[in-house]
Amino acid sequence: MTTLDRVGALSVNGFDGSSSAGLSAHTRELVDRRRRVLGPAYHLMYETPLELVRGEGVYVYDADGTRYLDMYNNVASVGHCHPRVVEAVTGQMSLINTHTRYLHEAVIGYAEDLVGTFPDGLCTAMFTCTGSEANDLALRIARHATGRQGIIVTESAYHGGTVDVAACSPSMGPASVSDAAWVRTVSAPDSYRVDGDLGTWFAEKVQEQIDDLVCSGVGFAALMVDSIFASDGILPEPTPFVKPAADVVHAAGGLLIADEVQPGFGRLGASMWGFERHGLQPDIVTMGKPMGNGMPIAGLVMQGSLAELFGRDLRYFNTFGGNPVTIAAAQAVLDVIRDDGLVANSASMGTRMLAGLREAADRVDSVGDIRGAGLFVGVEFIGPAGEPDPAEALRVVNAMKERGVLISATGSYGNTLKIRPPLTIEAADVDLFLEQFARVVD
Ligand SMILES: Cc1ncc(COP(=O)(O)O)c(C=O)c1O
Repeated sequence: MTTLDRVGALSVNGFDGSSSAGLSAHTRELVDRRRRVLGPAYHLMYETPLELVRGEGVYVYDADGTRYLDMYNNVASVGHCHPRVVEAVTGQMSLINTHTRYLHEAVIGYAEDLVGTFPDGLCTAMFTCTGSEANDLALRIARHATGRQGIIVTESAYHGGTVDVAACSPSMGPASVSDAAWVRTVSAPDSYRVDGDLGTWFAEKVQEQIDDLVCSGVGFAALMVDSIFASDGILPEPTPFVKPAADVVHAAGGLLIADEVQPGFGRLGASMWGFERHGLQPDIVTMGKPMGNGMPIAGLVMQGSLAELFGRDLRYFNTFGGNPVTIAAAQAVLDVIRDDGLVANSASMGTRMLAGLREAADRVDSVGDIRGAGLFVGVEFIGPAGEPDPAEALRVVNAMKERGVLISATGSYGNTLKIRPPLTIEAADVDLFLEQFARVVD
């Protein structure tokens, strides 16, 4: 891989199924059956795939009973099998599960509670089952409101898997975006590689693509950005570097879609939503993953006027989106985040993790950068000439797994560790992670 080679359609930490080396007979059999019946598009993680059967808090257990510290799973954000979520879901499931075409107190109450966590103006919620559907609906709403089609995303973005949203996900490889004449990409605002004022730099890149969309006749509808730029390599600082780009977008009559599927619900420590770190007022915010702690619920919160316009001309129905059972899970998640002070915990545990990682990295040359916000942390590996070193990142990911700690890798070059434990993590677990990290990189 040369300095500028980017990760293609293959997963950064994907299992290479071409060899059985190191696999038990049982794992090999499962891998083969899975490949036969599910096909090749789904990828497994790690050199030797994991069969997880149980989880509790920040720990998960494989079929042999081996325990792993889960430093990767941002879906089970309030911890695996949190009793309040389990109770809420089973309680509602044993009463009734319907859809949004009936009145339901809890669905309305949750929507009110959720929009109450947003700045004024972001006051209407809509529910889906997945982050992809939320982003897809966001694109429809933005295009309907502006009457234009063009969407701008970052060069290694991932926003999901519907036809339109996959076209906005260059991290899935060139085949994902190649046919979409309405998508433009901008370089990621990577403070490790870009000198000077990052905000101005990013705004200029966005402006160039707006101009291109206008010139080509497609027109500009929206800039869609993940507020932590997770698949671009985790880019948290220096805030508020997205703000100038947001101003450029609004000046061109476009909308800003903040994809909070990864950073939302307190993960970044400073606040409930990642865009708040950038002092932004997005027009549409999408969310998912941690929203139901594993139950399939996702959605959007948007400016009321956008929802009015869309609802005036179009209808939306999603059979399972926002059903009372998944809403019960989502309400429990929001309650736990507030009652247990998890945003503050994310901030303090994140600070502890960054400090420990920096101390360990001081002793080695292979770590080029360590960055993070709350419990979303990236560690970037480089070679002797400062070039991205994805092989070392992958070695560390797999060595950590062998020591009972789960992480993965991300970024345009696949050389950045992605560390996102449940928000409930405690100091002893952070220290266990740091101890193993120090041993693996030393
Ligand atoms: C930033 C971002 N947006 C959207 C999605 C899509 O969410 P889902 O897999 O629930 O469709 C993902 C999933 O990884 C994501 O990371």
